[in-house]
Amino acid sequence: MEKKLMHLFEAQQFDLNTIDALFSLATSLEENPQPVLRGKIMATLFYEPSTRTRLSFESAMLRLGGDVISTENALSVSSAVKGEPLEDTIRIVSMYADVIVLRYFESNIAERLLPIASVPIINAGDGAGQHPSQALLDLYTIHRELGRIDDITVVMVGDPKHSRSVHSLAYLLGKYKNIIINFVAPEELQIADDLLTYLDGHGVQYTKTHDLTAAIGEADVVYRNRLQKERFESETLYEKYKEMYLIDVPMASRMKQGAILMDPLPRIGGITTEVDVLPQAVYFKQARYGLLIRMALLAHMLA
Ligand code: CP
Repeated sequence: MEKKLMHLFEAQQFDLNTIDALFSLATSLEENPQPVLRGKIMATLFYEPSTRTRLSFESAMLRLGGDVISTENALSVSSAVKGEPLEDTIRIVSMYADVIVLRYFESNIAERLLPIASVPIINAGDGAGQHPSQALLDLYTIHRELGRIDDITVVMVGDPKHSRSVHSLAYLLGKYKNIIINFVAPEELQIADDLLTYLDGHGVQYTKTHDLTAAIGEADVVYRNRLQKERFESETLYEKYKEMYLIDVPMASRMKQGAILMDPLPRIGGITTEVDVLPQAVYFKQARYGLLIRMALLAHMLA
């Protein structure tokens, strides 16, 4: 039985029945969008930049008949500039909107906001923490493009340490059977031990390597993510690794038949434009699936 989500802060909140229900809803809304959220208002509060997440949530809300109020650059144009704490901003915006979609620059926002939340809050990325709606759309992309989620090998290449998309997707994959994840990164950017402990507890096999050339041919899914420059301790470290994992046509051609190349985007220095026409390149479709998944999520939480 599907479990109705009040808030969405982390990917572990989804159970398999709810994921299945959200996927069915996303697919039916693609074919037959309904104005089920007429009269509802969504506030998007973004303290970090975004193209896909904010605009796809806003488009999703409008397509479902709802309305949107938005602060796209909260750190410079909201009362955060005057020093207003996040908790007070959430208290206020909760009086103006039926749901809040929040991107914030620090992780663990659930601890701060759960005690005061009076309307549903969706975490749209909290620092280097999580990005659960991204993980759901990533999983939906795998489901749509591969036709299965169990029994897959996923190469996650780039910056597993800082990427909230990688963290959330790894947590979600932990709910499926016979999953192998190969984290490809230099040691300084490798995945944190707490997530590996979670994978151990959920029967996910994993490996860590820095060698993409050796790993890429084993993957059913290659999940590329950019180096998160804004979270690096030093510019020197970023410069050292920024072009380490360029996926060009020769590298993409090492992927096995039927495998898919995903990226939460932006692609920044990671995938050459010549790769876009290859059959394995699904990253633009992935962004479109994000619209469907966010429609389903809003309808599920609010309708
Ligand atoms: N994938 C993603 O979160 O993109 P944006 O930063 O553009 O929202």
